[in-house]
Amino acid sequence: MKGISANNCTHHLHKHPVSMDIDGLRSTLNKHGQGHLLKFWDGLSSEDKEHFYKELTNIDYEEVTTFYKNAQESLNSSAQKIDDHLQPLSSGVCGSFSKTDPETLQSYEKSGLTAVSENKVAVLLLAGGQGTRLGVPYPKGMYDVGLPSKKTLYQIQAERILRVQNLGKKQTSKSGVIPWYIMTSEHTMEPTREFFAKNKYFGLQKEDVVLFEQSLLPCFSFDGEIILQSPSKIALAPDGNGGLYRALRRSKVLDDMEKRGIEYIHVYCVDNILVKMADPIFMGFCISKGANCAAKVVEKAFPTEAVGVVCKVDGVYQVVEYSEITQDTAEKRNEDGRLAFNAGNICNHFFTFDFLKHASDGPQESQLKHHVAKKKIPYVDSDSKVQKPTKPNGIKMEKFVFDVFQFATNFAVWDVLREDEFSPLKNADSNDAEIKVKDTPSTCRQALFNLHHRYVVKAGGKFVDGEGSAITTQPSDIQNGNENDQSVICEISPLVSFAGEGLEEHVSGQALVSPVTLEVTPENGKPLLQQGSAK
Ligand code: UD1
Repeated sequence: MKGISANNCTHHLHKHPVSMDIDGLRSTLNKHGQGHLLKFWDGLSSEDKEHFYKELTNIDYEEVTTFYKNAQESLNSSAQKIDDHLQPLSSGVCGSFSKTDPETLQSYEKSGLTAVSENKVAVLLLAGGQGTRLGVPYPKGMYDVGLPSKKTLYQIQAERILRVQNLGKKQTSKSGVIPWYIMTSEHTMEPTREFFAKNKYFGLQKEDVVLFEQSLLPCFSFDGEIILQSPSKIALAPDGNGGLYRALRRSKVLDDMEKRGIEYIHVYCVDNILVKMADPIFMGFCISKGANCAAKVVEKAFPTEAVGVVCKVDGVYQVVEYSEITQDTAEKRNEDGRLAFNAGNICNHFFTFDFLKHASDGPQESQLKHHVAKKKIPYVDSDSKVQKPTKPNGIKMEKFVFDVFQFATNFAVWDVLREDEFSPLKNADSNDAEIKVKDTPSTCRQALFNLHHRYVVKAGGKFVDGEGSAITTQPSDIQNGNENDQSVICEISPLVSFAGEGLEEHVSGQALVSPVTLEVTPENGKPLLQQGSAK
């Protein structure tokens, strides 16, 4: 199978002129109904011709037009059909953080940390998305949501890895490494690579941060024609976060994992500021269950929330994505008033190495269907002008990372508290204070402050205002993203605490004035607490 990976196409030009068989290309294109792609050919410069020829000959037209046909069929088969087959999760596969006793949680944590210190755990980040909703021209992981430390999402994640490695060492006296595999796409590869190099991998070893690239697929018009984005460039988009499996097959990542003896992989998406990297409790839960595939979920907040739901379809575990569930099903409630399909997917998955390898094999990977999204795709008109359509004019085809759940022989679900673990960055803040947008830099920031506020209170600290009066407001509901007058600013470095542990010695018995930060000092590596006007 030949796809398009930026490793082997588009912008890497040969130094010597490419010998071009235009007639051969034209006949291939015509055979697959794509002859229009050469309509501007005669007017192109020789450099553009060379580029474009290379791009066009890198596509397997048989394959992509088949993808399109299958996608078109799935568009026509209504969501209603799925709805009739949807079943909630059976309680046997579910574990819940809040319903598990402290001793059991501790034993999960211990087993997760043991696996870490035995070099058996890896994290794998899906970071090939285009971040269209947030609207920044650089990868989302490089975004700084405005914490006092100005840390980016990547830095926060890197420091959490370091901390878990440390906790593993503390527990077992053995230093394990958690390699970090990062899937990028053509748009995010170079900036991500440069960013990590510039920041010295945030304290991780360079060889433990492994970048690899997912493929791109052409965007199609509703008539099945590949869209030209300029006279000499086709419109390409990443093939979805489920492009992971194809990318794994084509890269050396699985070999690298095998060489290192990785057994458990935590796969997650880039935008959740509260993500618990290689969460030892989650890993331990999955290990104890003997699961080969698992998902972390939070209770879905309301029917139209943009999260997929983990459920069963015809007895097979699956996520039904928010874009594909019908309103009727999304609104169904149990007798207790809770949503019937309430296991909200937070894109935190657990796979054993064997499972991941199996799912990435050709026979399995090719069973994963593309999902179709109707999009507004810029295109070039017959006068060679680029047009930005105001309504959808074509489709993007994407595979979804969770579609491999169908191959699981032992599936598990771990239910966690939203306020502890889920606050994604999806949208930009609105300029209009009256308009409340969800999942923005402000709501992420607030969710982290609230969580760290709770950590401090649990560790025996309290917050007071400038006059010394206790602040009584509890950390506000993160869903609202309300930064009310009494909400405190509190940021604890992941290098000091992963999930609230070890804070007593810094905050117990203290009356703290916001803003509070607990950060490791670069000079001596020791934690330093700063607060209020001292800042
Ligand atoms: C995703 C989940 C959804 C879940 C929600 C929680 C999928 C398909 N959907 O939705 O069920 O409820 O997160 O926040 O997982 N990405 C790639 N390559 C791509 C496209 C995306 O690596 O081609 C990455 C993104 O960089 C991101 C992650 O996948 O890290 C999720 O992508 P995004 O488009 O933000 O997913 P949502 O629609 O929010």
